[in-house]
Amino acid sequence: MDNLKNLRGTADLLPEQLIKWQNVEKILIQQLSRASIKEIRTPILEMTELFIRGIGEGTDVVSKEMYTFLDRGERSCTLRPEGTASVARALIQNGISSNPLQKLWYMGPMFRYERPQAGRQRQFHQLGVEFIGYDSVRSDIEIIVLAWDILEKLGIKELNLEINTLGDHLDRLNFQKSFLNWLKINKDSLDLDSQNRIDKNPLRILDSKNIQTKKVLENAPRLFEFLSDKSIKRYSELKKQLEALKIPYVENFNLVRGLDYYTHTAFEITSGALGSQSTVCGGGRYDNLIGQMGGPKTSAIGFAIGLERLILLAGKELEVPRNTDIYIINQGVTAELLATNLSRKLRDYDLLVELDLSGASFSKQFKKANKLKSKSIIVIGDDEAANKEFIIRLFDKASDENQEETISYENDIKLRKWLDNNLLLK
Ligand code: HAM
Repeated sequence: MDNLKNLRGTADLLPEQLIKWQNVEKILIQQLSRASIKEIRTPILEMTELFIRGIGEGTDVVSKEMYTFLDRGERSCTLRPEGTASVARALIQNGISSNPLQKLWYMGPMFRYERPQAGRQRQFHQLGVEFIGYDSVRSDIEIIVLAWDILEKLGIKELNLEINTLGDHLDRLNFQKSFLNWLKINKDSLDLDSQNRIDKNPLRILDSKNIQTKKVLENAPRLFEFLSDKSIKRYSELKKQLEALKIPYVENFNLVRGLDYYTHTAFEITSGALGSQSTVCGGGRYDNLIGQMGGPKTSAIGFAIGLERLILLAGKELEVPRNTDIYIINQGVTAELLATNLSRKLRDYDLLVELDLSGASFSKQFKKANKLKSKSIIVIGDDEAANKEFIIRLFDKASDENQEETISYENDIKLRKWLDNNLLLK
């Protein structure tokens, strides 16, 4: 029988890789809690209807990329392709009116049936942030600044912020009418993929990467020309505040994003250090989503960062593991029992303790401690066990007698003093 393999586009994260992941996650969570943003966790599996209504039937995500199946009760279920629709559902379901202003984050796996390549997977991970109930330009700024600072904090280079405005619902309807007319006249000059989008999701054609189509589009009507005065004012204010904060941006009128719920501000942050999948963060305002999904009319804005791309970009310094503080070398029945209990006690001091379970010779256990670059070792053999004591010493200062101590198993004060002097307060 062939060996079983993981599904295409999914990946195992092994302990060595997870060192960097966990370090990145720690910094992310720290930054989020410093900004008083609270975590929310929603199910990975949702009713398919949620994404059809939330993201839009004509989008690539819904029409081509969802992992959808019938469960044993014949209900259509979907592995979440993104987090915004789920957060909106959870808030409506749990009574949004009693808590109309919320700043939330989530982190976890998302699923899209896309063609896998570097930085693009079928199971990938996102960190998402959603500000619910906020409609001022200041909240757009706070969201963009937060994403920007997170990426900078992780040492990510060559960041580019692209912004656009999609106006409100009415602005977009007016534009769409005129754009559709233009598309029908110019249909034959577009690439096949764009031609197919005319009836399904015409706005998305603006995002085409096809060089010929891009050229033709230069003469298409622009969404910008259909914006109301209010929408233009909002957008100008956004740019003014970004400039005041010295956040560099580029306007990209073709930035429409792949999900239908956006209104007004849309933005993406790319990094020149990534290959073709250069967008590390995407987001925008979605003032109609919660209302459309059956909740009270609620303005909102958010973003999501792709963690696989973030890991590709984050620096090598985040790959460094925390070394073992104490390696417990032990052999013999009584010694092993004492060693187990000692390891429990030491972990309470927030020390990274490794208990050798091999029963191998002392020299083999020493070698293992050396390989792990453990800061210190504890040795318990038959003699020590008989006296209910153990030897503790710093590993690389074996000759320095001050560093070595024989401590009675019950003498917590002496142990604490040694730990303070050599590990905890260093
Ligand atoms: P999105 O642009 O579809 O937005 O995804 C956000 C980020 O997720 C992308 O910029 C990318 O870094 C990452 N990503 C997307 N698909 C993949 C994939 N197949 N493999 C690896 N990474 C991927 C959203 O999902 C919106 N929910 C963001 C948002 C939140 N807007 C408002 N609030």
